[in-house]
Amino acid sequence: MTVGEKTQEAAPAVAKGAGEKGVLRFGVIGCGGRAEGLTKTLMRDKRGDLVAICDTDPEQIDHYEKLARSSLGHGTKHYSDYKELLDNPDIDAVIIATPDQWHHDMAVHAFKQKKHVFLEKPVGINLGQTADILRAARQSGKILEVGYVLRYTPFYQGVRSLVQGGEIGSPLTADALEQYYGAFHFYRGWWKSKGNNGGIMVQKICHDMDLWYWIFGKPRRIVSFENLMDFKPGGWDSDAKSCNECKNHCPYYIPPEGVARSKTKSNECVYNDPHDITDSCNVLIQFESGMTLSQGMNFYCARSRSDRFLHVVGSTGEVSGWLSQNMIRYDKRHGKGDVDVKYLQFHAMGADGHGGGDDVQIIEFLNGLVEGREALAGMESAYWSSIIIMGAQMSADQGRVIDVKELTAKYPFP
Ligand SMILES: NC(=O)c1ccc[n+]([C@@H]2O[C@H](COP(=O)([O-])OP(=O)(O)OC[C@H]3O[C@@H](n4cnc5c(N)ncnc54)[C@H](O)[C@@H]3O)[C@@H](O)[C@H]2O)c1
Repeated sequence: MTVGEKTQEAAPAVAKGAGEKGVLRFGVIGCGGRAEGLTKTLMRDKRGDLVAICDTDPEQIDHYEKLARSSLGHGTKHYSDYKELLDNPDIDAVIIATPDQWHHDMAVHAFKQKKHVFLEKPVGINLGQTADILRAARQSGKILEVGYVLRYTPFYQGVRSLVQGGEIGSPLTADALEQYYGAFHFYRGWWKSKGNNGGIMVQKICHDMDLWYWIFGKPRRIVSFENLMDFKPGGWDSDAKSCNECKNHCPYYIPPEGVARSKTKSNECVYNDPHDITDSCNVLIQFESGMTLSQGMNFYCARSRSDRFLHVVGSTGEVSGWLSQNMIRYDKRHGKGDVDVKYLQFHAMGADGHGGGDDVQIIEFLNGLVEGREALAGMESAYWSSIIIMGAQMSADQGRVIDVKELTAKYPFP
C-alpha cells in the first residue's frame, strides 16, 4: 500500500468549506510539544494556512504566534477557550493536540461545528468517548485523522506489504516490543493520572494496536498484564516527593530553574510522587485468522535502546526488524540457511521523528482534505485501535480474557 491510499471507509468530499483560493484555514488547539512539528510542516505547505491558535498557557500562544509570523508573515487569532475557536466559521480544519482528557469534548465539538479534525492519539480515553467522537465525525461528514504516525513509516509499510503480499505465507505468530527510555514524563504533570489518559497502554501502545489491526486484521480475544516495577518508591534512594527537596539526584532530576522549560512544566519525583501509571505491560492478541501476537512494552531500557521491534513468522517465511534501523530482515522458511536471508533497507525522511512518519502524516492529511478523502489513519483506524487497546486495558484491570465481540456489540462501528 502506498502512502495516502484509501482505507476501507472512504470519507466524503471536502473543499466546500475551504477559504479563498482553496486554501484550507487551520486552527491549532493545544500549542504544546506535539503540535509544534505538525504546525511547522503544515505552514510550509501552501495549501494550508494557520489562522487561529488556542492554548490555556499564554506563553505557548506567544511562542506559536512567533512561529506563525516568521513562517507565514502574518499573525493568528488567539483563543484560550477551545469552543470559541471552534465556533469561528472561518476555520476549516483543526489540529487537536491537548492532553488526552480533552480529546473527546474538543473533537465532538469540532465535528458539530463542521471542522475537519486531526486528532492526536489516543482517540478517547475510553470506548464511550471514542464512540462519541466517531459518531460525531460520521454525522458531520467531515474528515478525521488520528495521530497514528507509525502508519506513515517506510518500516511498517514495508512489513505490511510483505505480509499482505503473501511473502511469508499465512502469518502464524508475531512478537513485538516497545522500549522507551524517555517515559519518565509519565510520572509527572497531567500524564501521571490514569483518569487523564486511560492508562499507560491506552496512552502509549495504542499506536502499536493500530498497526496490528492494519497488518493482521480484526482481533478475536485479548489478554494482558501490566506492572509497576521501577517508577515507584524504592526505585531510587530518596524519600523526596519532588526534585526541589531531593538530596540524591536521579537521572531524571529537574532543578527548580529548569521547571519552566521542562516537558511537564513540573518536577515531581518520578518514584515517590503518587501516580497510577504503570511502567511495563504484556498484551496477547488472538486475531480472527487464529494467529497470535505478543506485545511487550517497558520503560526500563537503556537510553540507546529506545526502539520498537517486530518479528512475524508465517507459513513460508518470516520478517523482523527494529524500527530505528529502517531495515527488514526476510528469512525463507525452507531456505538454505544464511545464504537465503535478505535485508530490505528503507530511507526514512527525518527518521528521528517516529521512523520518518512525522513529516509525512500531516501532509497526507492535507492531501486527503484537498482530494476529499480520508488519509491512512481515519475512522476505521480510530475504531479498531481503540477496541484493541481498551480491550487490553480492560483485561489488565479485570484480570480476564476479553472477547472482542463483547466490545463491538456494545460499541458498533458507526
Ligand atoms: N502521535 C504521537 O506520536 C504523539 C507524540 C506525543 C504526544 N502525542 C499526543 O499529543 C497530545 C499532546 O501532547 P504534548 O506532548 O504536546 O503535550 P504538551 O503538554 O506539551 O502540550 C499540550 C498543550 O495543550 C495545552 N492545553 C492544556 N489544556 C488545554 C485546554 N483545555 N485548552 C487549550 N489548550 C490546553 C497545554 O497548555 C499545552 O501547551 C497528547 O494527546 C499526546 O498523547 C502524540
